[in-house]
Amino acid sequence: VTAAELSGRGLAARVRAEVTADAARLAAEGRPVRLAVVTATDDEASASYVRSIAAAAGKAGIACDVLRTATAGGVTATLAQLADDPEVHGIMLQTPLPGGASLAGLAGTIPPGKDVDGANPESLGRLAAGLPGFASATAEAVLALLRHYEVPLAGRHAVVVGRSVVVGKPAAHLLLDANATVTVCHSRTTDLPAITRQADVLVAAVGRAGLIRAGYVSPGTVVIDVGTNATPDGGIVGDVSPEVAAVAAALTPVPGGIGPVTTALLLRHVIEAASALALCHRPFW
Ligand SMILES: NC(=O)c1ccc[n+]([C@@H]2O[C@H](COP(=O)([O-])OP(=O)(O)OC[C@H]3O[C@@H](n4cnc5c(N)ncnc54)[C@H](OP(=O)(O)O)[C@@H]3O)[C@@H](O)[C@H]2O)c1
Repeated sequence: VTAAELSGRGLAARVRAEVTADAARLAAEGRPVRLAVVTATDDEASASYVRSIAAAAGKAGIACDVLRTATAGGVTATLAQLADDPEVHGIMLQTPLPGGASLAGLAGTIPPGKDVDGANPESLGRLAAGLPGFASATAEAVLALLRHYEVPLAGRHAVVVGRSVVVGKPAAHLLLDANATVTVCHSRTTDLPAITRQADVLVAAVGRAGLIRAGYVSPGTVVIDVGTNATPDGGIVGDVSPEVAAVAAALTPVPGGIGPVTTALLLRHVIEAASALALCHRPFW
């Protein structure tokens, strides 16, 4: 093994400490911070993610309401109520949604200033246009971890594998903002390893265990593994095969890499929303 391990736990702890201090300050000013999570699924992976967010929020002094509903109409009504509630600062909409419901349509009703996970298409548009707003916490976690470990980005070739609205596209925009030269790959990309081998920074956000193997990276590549894939024994593994550690310069672990940073940044977004900073600035990663 040659790759340095880029753990996310230290950065996540630092962000959580800042969030906890900010939440306490806002509460002391009579402005307790509140997050609402809307869910319409019985999916266990989703339920477990919601529990972990609620627990992390609680520890940081942020109230977290989990609102359950069974239908698309219920989601619409709940989101409308939360949009108008001045005591709710951040809103998250969990997937999967009830059959036939459109994520873009429903998330499009979350006011951009409360859209703490960047789910409203307007938030992605703002990111693409260089306007203030919230990026998806996962995409921002990629940049935050690269900055934390002082990985140079300006002028470097960043290759993102995955083009979802939740991870790949916002991560590509944030890397572009950091002056990387960005290539985005997807399921129709021809000869993926030939492209990923050219990466100085490789971001894997696919959702296929072990897709990125040793032959996909070059010595010196910094690899960020966003993938979280369930294993039969109840664990999770990333999109990057363990053999990559013998070639790459550095690699994020799964679990313990992007995941904890994502949760911490989500809470930071709630603080920014409560401080009405959301549409005033965008942190420069
Ligand atoms: N750690 C966290 O906080 C966090 C948060 C969110 C997601 N995740 C994880 O990140 C992963 C990606 O999530 P997502 O929501 O972006 O998934 P998604 O919506 O399913 O998107 C997957 C992307 O990967 C591409 N792809 C699929 N197979 C491929 C292949 N063989 N070669 C190249 N590209 C391929 C798809 O291409 P097409 O566009 O052509 O279909 C698509 O763009 C998942 O494992 C998810 O669990 C982690």
